[in-house]
Order: sequence, then C-alpha cells, then structure tokens
Amino acid sequence: MIDRSIYIHVPFCKKKCHYCDFFSITTLDDTTILHYVEKCKKEIIQFAKKYPDTLIKTIYFGGGTPSLLSSKYIGEILNIIKAEFHTSSEETTIEVNPATSIDWEKYAQMGFNRISIGVQSLDDNVLKKLGRLHNSEVALNAVKEAGNYFDNISCDLIIGTPFDPSITVLGNHIDLLARYVKHFSIYILTVAEDTKMFDYILLNKYTMLEDNLISDVYYSISSKLKSLEFNKYEVSNFAKAGCQSKHNLGYWNKRDYFGVGPSASSYVNGVRFLVSPTGYFNVTETSYKVESVLTQADDMFEHIMLGFRLTEGFSIGDFNKKFNVDFRKTYEKAITKNSEFLSIFNDRIFIKDKYILIMNSIILDFMS
Ligand SMILES: C[S@@+](CC[C@H](N)C(=O)[O-])C[C@H]1O[C@@H](n2cnc3c(N)ncnc32)[C@H](O)[C@@H]1O
Ligand code: SF4
Repeated sequence: MIDRSIYIHVPFCKKKCHYCDFFSITTLDDTTILHYVEKCKKEIIQFAKKYPDTLIKTIYFGGGTPSLLSSKYIGEILNIIKAEFHTSSEETTIEVNPATSIDWEKYAQMGFNRISIGVQSLDDNVLKKLGRLHNSEVALNAVKEAGNYFDNISCDLIIGTPFDPSITVLGNHIDLLARYVKHFSIYILTVAEDTKMFDYILLNKYTMLEDNLISDVYYSISSKLKSLEFNKYEVSNFAKAGCQSKHNLGYWNKRDYFGVGPSASSYVNGVRFLVSPTGYFNVTETSYKVESVLTQADDMFEHIMLGFRLTEGFSIGDFNKKFNVDFRKTYEKAITKNSEFLSIFNDRIFIKDKYILIMNSIILDFMS
C-alpha cells in the first residue's frame, strides 16, 4: 500500500473576495452543483481504479467555499472516498467561511476532525476592504462555535494589506484567537492580475505596503505566535505541538496526492495531472484533464522549492537517494552564492528564518 492524500476542490463562492484568484464560480444553481458533485464522484472512482494500491491518509475539502455546498453533498463525496479507497482517516479537514451557515454537528458526525476557518482579519475595516461578506464578530463566533465540536481548529489570516491595523492591534487579535485554535495560517497578501485588488492598486485607490513594513508585520506576528507556543513549521503556518497540518505537510514533502474538482492538481508516481477548469462544467467536454510527466530536473526543482518552505527544510540524504545525485555537488554554485541565507544541520538544509521572505530569489539560484 502507498500512503496518499486526496484534495477535493469545491469551486463555489457566494461572491469573489477582492484579493482572491483561486478558481471559483458564483453560479450556485442546482444543475451546476449536481453536475459538479457527480463529476467529483466519477473522478474519485477513476483514481481508485487506477491506483488500487492506495491508502488514503488525509482528506482535505478546500475551495472555493466547501461550507457553501450542502452537507448532504459533502457527505456523499466523503462516502465515495471511503467506499472506493482504503482509508486511515488520520486527518479529515474542511475549510469553512464564516459568511456561510456551517453545519458543525453534521461535519463532526461525518468524520471531519480538523476545521480550517477563513477568518482573514478581526478588523472590520480590513474585512470590508478585502471584500469579505462577514464582520469580525461573525468570524469570532464561528471560531468559538467550532470549539464546541472540534479540537483541531485552524484559522487563516491575511497580513501585509494596505490597510493593516497596527502591530499591537494585530497582536491582540492573535491573543484572542489563540484561545480557541491550535493552528494559524498567516498569509501575506499577494495581488494577482484579474482581481479587484489589482485594479484598485493600479488606480491608486490603495497603495501596497513596502517590503520592509510587510517584513516587520510578519516577524512581529511570528514572535507573538512563538510566545503563545505556536511554532512556525512552514513559511505561513504555525502550530501547537502535534497540530501541524498532516495533509499540507504531504504536499511540501512531495508525497503523492489526488486532486479532484476543477483546477485541482494531482501528483502520483512522479506524474502531475492538472484538472483545467475550462470544460469542467461542460457536460460534453471530456478533455479537461492534462497530464504531464515531470522531468527529473523539474522534479528536483519542485522538491527544493517545496522543501525550502519548511522551517526544517529537507534531508540532503533523502534527496540524493531519490534522484541518485550528489546534492552538494550538483548545487555547489547555488549553495555557495546563498551561504549567508542557508543552514545545513544534521543532513538537513533550510533557509534561516530571518531570510525566509526572500525565499523566491534564493530558490531561483537552484533552478538550473
Ligand atoms: C482559497 S481560500 C479558502 C477559504 C475560504 N474560501 C474562505 O475564504 O474563507 C484559502 C485561504 O487562502 C488565503 N488567500 C486567498 N487569496 C489570497 C491572497 N491573494 N493573498 C493572501 N492570502 C490569500 C486566505 O487566507 C484564504 O482563507
Ligand atoms: S478567499 Fe475564499 S471565499 Fe473569498 S473568493 Fe477566495 S475562495 Fe472564495
């Protein structure tokens, strides 16, 4: 049996947030939803037939907004996974948006044991400007309510926005949330084209924070979280002991996973599949799945890129064994050029915490 994970992309949102470029649609009619659910089930069955040697360790419903899909359909999809695969259900996560009505009890009954809540901010001005449909009170109530049913709760926050509150206020928000959650995902705002936020910045309605200010916010929040015993294990993720996301650690450690739903990617036996959103909702379209076998060079680069996101980096020995190369020799130039930013300890190579935000430029040197 090979340990694998499964990700279900639920591509529905009530309204597009101003900053978000994840694939989602706001068409919520019964035909579209039913078509999506049936297609998901078919994809799961296909994966299970093609890879019968699989043990599903973690299941993750992400989005989009999974809590917008009725729990009846969530349950049907979950049941198909459990019926078609061997599962150990070590971690079963669902992302919820506080602006939706959330069926906590049903999620618990179905077997979800981890909840990820899109809080984003506890500042009403920020929430409004991000285009969120909930205010801070609704978000905080969702976090509290989740605690009545779940032990393992994570919350997403966005920092580095043009309208961040002061670091002290942000720290107070963290203090408050930390009473109820075991895990934080703290994302620095990225602004992609085709988002409202991009247009607002282009029109000078908002001005992006300067890099040094973003860095100040990030490191203040990091040390605040550290003082509350949330340890950083990935550039954006902080957890109490034993509460790291097993599912996401699988991605960063390059373990196999199946992706189901439009825009979800999969990585199985060194092959990457991408389910293109185009055609997914077209009943007659069958060629929406693109398959690409990674070259060894691509695979090595992905391994480095993902491994450097982790606080503890990756094992040089494992890298050498997996790719039959000598890492230190192959990347001698890149390691020397970035020696100030990197540490090698007990066979593991990682980016020093104070340089983690310049990760992208470091990684580029490992590309060739
Ligand atoms: C795809 S969303 C799913 C969660 C759910 N739809 C919600 O918004 O409540 C996952 C997380 O990604 C983060 N995110 C999405 N777009 C982002 C951006 N442009 N910059 C930073 N974080 C972003 C948000 O924190 C969000 O909660
Ligand atoms: S952040 Fe979440 S709710 Fe907002 S548009 Fe993106 S996926 Fe939808």
